[in-house]
Amino acid sequence: MSSTESGYSRKNPFPAKLSVNRKLTGEGSNKDTRHFEICLEGSGLGYEVGDSLGVFPANNPALVELVLKELGFTGEEPVTTADGAPASMREALTKSFILTEPSKQLLQAVAERDSSGAFLANLFLPEEKTALENFLWGRDVLDVLQEFTAARFTPEEFVKVLRKLQPRLYSIASSQRAVGESVHLTIAVVRYTVEHSKREREGVCSSYLAERLNEGSVPVFVHTAKHFRVPENPDAPVIMVGPGTGIAPFRAFLQERQATGAKGPNWVFFGEQKSSTDYLYQDEFEAAASSGILTKLTTAFSRDQAEKIYVQHRMLEHGAELFDWLQKGGYFYVCGDAKNMAKDVDAALHTIAEQHGNMTPELAKEYVDGLKKEKRYRKDVY
Ligand SMILES: Cc1cc2nc3c(=O)[nH]c(=O)nc-3n(C[C@H](O)[C@H](O)[C@H](O)COP(=O)(O)OP(=O)(O)OC[C@H]3O[C@@H](n4cnc5c(N)ncnc54)[C@H](O)[C@@H]3O)c2cc1C
Ligand SMILES: NC(=O)c1ccc[n+]([C@@H]2O[C@H](COP(=O)([O-])OP(=O)(O)OC[C@H]3O[C@@H](n4cnc5c(N)ncnc54)[C@H](OP(=O)(O)O)[C@@H]3O)[C@@H](O)[C@H]2O)c1
Repeated sequence: MSSTESGYSRKNPFPAKLSVNRKLTGEGSNKDTRHFEICLEGSGLGYEVGDSLGVFPANNPALVELVLKELGFTGEEPVTTADGAPASMREALTKSFILTEPSKQLLQAVAERDSSGAFLANLFLPEEKTALENFLWGRDVLDVLQEFTAARFTPEEFVKVLRKLQPRLYSIASSQRAVGESVHLTIAVVRYTVEHSKREREGVCSSYLAERLNEGSVPVFVHTAKHFRVPENPDAPVIMVGPGTGIAPFRAFLQERQATGAKGPNWVFFGEQKSSTDYLYQDEFEAAASSGILTKLTTAFSRDQAEKIYVQHRMLEHGAELFDWLQKGGYFYVCGDAKNMAKDVDAALHTIAEQHGNMTPELAKEYVDGLKKEKRYRKDVY
């Protein structure tokens, strides 16, 4: 059943239970990347591999209490949520509003109320874009309240200058043909510190799933991604490049190709920092390689040696074979970091076409554009 037929959607999310929360990264890793399983029983929700799951998080109650204290509120004050519903201040700050990135309205309201913050009003001029980014970097709503203590608000005034808390999307890491009424996710928990404060910072949704959900339920919905499907032709070769959490949809692709008996060859490129601590789903991928469902498994551990080795370096090393797979009608997929990785992988694909297809840079561009047009080059990057 599709997510629309089930009646559950972004507007009407399903309250799901978390059944598994398991660390994938080992002792000594720089990361805390986890495998989650969310139970869809009773929802009728269906998904296809390539789709994402939307998750509505809640803010950390400890942060909510600090904000209430700074504002001099008890938390019991009646206010209106971002959806226009009545709620207590505590409930609204927990579930309805963003407490991480300060909004334009908050900064403007602070500028009006605290003379030492008057400069904030100018940060929204087009020529101050960089100054605004510098000011916002690493500052949350509590930082602003603690810096500009003369700014006082009534409860309703305060919530009016906050923005609505948004759901986060996560690439689905399972095929329903393999796992039934469940959905698997692979999530890197965001935690960091900032120079100006001792208070530890965390990503709202990744830390909520990792640490605060416990026995409760989490509102979820399926976000369809029609552009990121396995090939319709079961015999087509599939090349999947998924460093870090970018591996998630390819775990799902492999489950799907196995469950449907697709005969085409599968090649996974996976990259992370260290093989000893960051080899996500190592057992599963190695077992898939041994059983033959995964035809080729190529890894790039960037910090196992002095020089950085990334997935695109491995692609270039295997350029002749990769080009051959493409020439045989192969599909090329990439998932993960949009800012650097996806661009570098794209450049490597052009280089491979030049080197192994004897193309000029212009012809290589045409070739890669052709793959895109034929929907044989697909990206899910964030
Ligand atoms: C289609 C799609 C699929 C995705 N799939 C996955 C997936 O499979 N797995 C996954 O883990 N994520 C995935 N993401 C990313 C995910 O949606 C969230 O963006 C991510 O989990 C962070 O959300 P959060 O609420 O935990 O953090 P947020 O509360 O949103 O905080 C993140 C913000 O913290 C700030 N920040 C982070 N580090 C620092 C730092 N060192 N210094 C200062 N500020 C910093 C940045 O402003 C950053 O934008 C996907 C995104 C999309 C769009
Ligand atoms: N919006 C958010 O807050 C948020 C939250 C979680 C994840 N993300 C993003 O999601 C993506 C996945 O994160 P992740 O922690 O799982 O993994 P990641 O940061 O993408 O790292 C995975 C591997 O990719 C390597 N890498 C770094 N730069 C690369 C490049 N230009 N080309 C190819 N490989 C490169 C890393 O090496 P080195 O580390 O050794 O350089 C590491 O070995 C990233 O974009 C991350 O920023 C964003």
